[in-house]
Amino acid sequence: MTWPYKISSMTSKTNQELRDEANSDRLGFWANQAHQLSWHKPFTKTLDWSNPPFAKWFEDGQINASYNCLDRHVLAGLGDKPAILFEGEPGDTQTYTYSELLEQTKKAANALLDLGIRSGDRVAIYMPMIPETLIAILAVARIGAVHSVVFGGFSADSLRSRINDAQAKLVITADGGFRKGKAHPLKEAVDHALQDNSCPSIEHVLVVQRTNTAVAMEDKDIWWHDALAKAEPEHEAIGFDSEHPLFILYTSGTTGKPKGILHTTGGYLTGASYTHRTVFDLKSDTDVYWCTADVGWITGHSYVVYGPLANGVTQVIYEGTPDSPNFERWWEIIEKFKVSIFYTAPTAIRTFMKVGRAVVDGHDLSSLRILGSVGEPINPEAWEWYHKVVGGSRCEIVDTWWQTETGSIMISPVPHTMQTKPGSAQRALPGITVGIVDENGSPVINSSEGSEAGYLTIDEPWPSMLKGIWGDPERFVETYWSRFPGKYFAGDGARFDEDGDIWLLGRIDDVIKVSGHRLSTAEIESALVEHHWVAEAAVVGAQDEITEQAVVAFVILRQDELGDAPDEEEIGKVLRGWVSEKIGAIARPRQIMVVSELPKTRSGKIMRRLLKDVAEGRPVGDTTTLADSSVMNSINDKLHSSTND
Ligand code: WT7
Repeated sequence: MTWPYKISSMTSKTNQELRDEANSDRLGFWANQAHQLSWHKPFTKTLDWSNPPFAKWFEDGQINASYNCLDRHVLAGLGDKPAILFEGEPGDTQTYTYSELLEQTKKAANALLDLGIRSGDRVAIYMPMIPETLIAILAVARIGAVHSVVFGGFSADSLRSRINDAQAKLVITADGGFRKGKAHPLKEAVDHALQDNSCPSIEHVLVVQRTNTAVAMEDKDIWWHDALAKAEPEHEAIGFDSEHPLFILYTSGTTGKPKGILHTTGGYLTGASYTHRTVFDLKSDTDVYWCTADVGWITGHSYVVYGPLANGVTQVIYEGTPDSPNFERWWEIIEKFKVSIFYTAPTAIRTFMKVGRAVVDGHDLSSLRILGSVGEPINPEAWEWYHKVVGGSRCEIVDTWWQTETGSIMISPVPHTMQTKPGSAQRALPGITVGIVDENGSPVINSSEGSEAGYLTIDEPWPSMLKGIWGDPERFVETYWSRFPGKYFAGDGARFDEDGDIWLLGRIDDVIKVSGHRLSTAEIESALVEHHWVAEAAVVGAQDEITEQAVVAFVILRQDELGDAPDEEEIGKVLRGWVSEKIGAIARPRQIMVVSELPKTRSGKIMRRLLKDVAEGRPVGDTTTLADSSVMNSINDKLHSSTND
């Protein structure tokens, strides 16, 4: 089946043409990309950078993100094209065409208005991966409200602090979602987050029925299906200023408190849609696209919701985990829906490498043509395996580097235009200017042998850049724009190779990556010291074969609080559970090591580098700057006599 609306008309330019255009007139290039969207009021100014780092993109234009993802496709004759091919974990399936998605979104938008939600209000979304989640997001955006999606795996405590930071008026949730064969409760966690009036800004909770789990419905709680049944079916999308807030997404930084990253409408949508069609080589109007990310992360925002829907593709949404009921599941889905573009994380690939290729080999994956990787560096072995076993040595691999803050992909190969290299994300996309600098901010010297490792910077503003940290403009300037004045500092190390291609070297700060999920060591440390047993804690990310990094915590206990002295195994178990409860299961330490002292410099700074050596089983490095150099010996001795998990 072909559709009257040609994605190909958006991507008819070759990569070289795009690059030439961007090099000769960068702002003109971005204006052209923005013109691929429908504007309620056209913009005349592309960028205002008169007050850096506060950028304004397409400032005098007005646009509606939901209209761009839905109405305009229906108006162009794409109404019957499937937008979502949904596969629930228990095996239930459902297709939503663009018309059906629009119809539901209009009703949901009216339901939100009926609940008193207005433009600029914040709405928290705490949901499983089901079609209603996309509908909720698009409905919030449609009325100019601001969504703050909180990953369903985060704890009630994490949800509460995000609701309060954003002062959300409404939570949209579900009774539960199916995960690993069970109903994972969500409404219950919302109740827990809200109990004792601990989120006073919340007026209502809208609850989607998914698992039929019994939930307590109080006055403020409303069933989604009841609210939609009552809502008017028609809703006209109006335009909002290009710089109108679209969403907040909390992410971990170097301090204990997650930051609410703010993205605004016109620039963000331009970045998400441009990169989606360019990096994934959207050509064929019959492509079936599948990104396995949860909408709780930026990848889900840009490459499940806004990029694909703005580009009018058909995509698969899967509710569950790759191992449920068994490791065949993903490959069955690709075969069943004839997925042509597949986007996932290196952790998943490494998991399948360990399980063995038989689970993949049993399926016809000949529909695949582009394979994407995101979230952490992909090691060459995993890249090769992905290429051979999943891609049948015939698919292009795009290793995409970006961040919650960048909003969309910044560095990636563009299919069919360059020789890909296992492990390198290679080049900044056309329109994006990046650099690698040394300690002092001078560009690293790039010779025929490549360069030294340095700090990756983005040197010019780009449309989908973050516009701030919610409620904290100083932290925004301080965190991203002060290390190398005039440049955005991403937090990653990188180097150029002999061909000028970029190799990402991981975070240089206290942010760690576990299965592609971003965690802050400081956040886990503060969760640990909230437990009455713990006097002090230091957390490091230790290398892990599958998850890239794993959380290892060193704790000093308060002997007076231990009561009838549980053994260390018990202590480890309790504290690991505690971290899960405080933050979410993704932050659960792999190992807790009880120590009597932590290595500190004379000025009192914990030397995590030494703890990392211990956690990774390496000889401990230089200890000369320690206040007490014997500390590491006692930790080391201790370690070789105990482990848990
Ligand atoms: C951090 C951002 C990108 C969206 C999902 C994660 C690391 C991400 C790559 C890659 C090497 C990567 C960086 C970055 N990262 N992609 N292809 N190669 N590292 O977004 O949670 O904001 O994390 O993920 O360290 O700073 P995020």
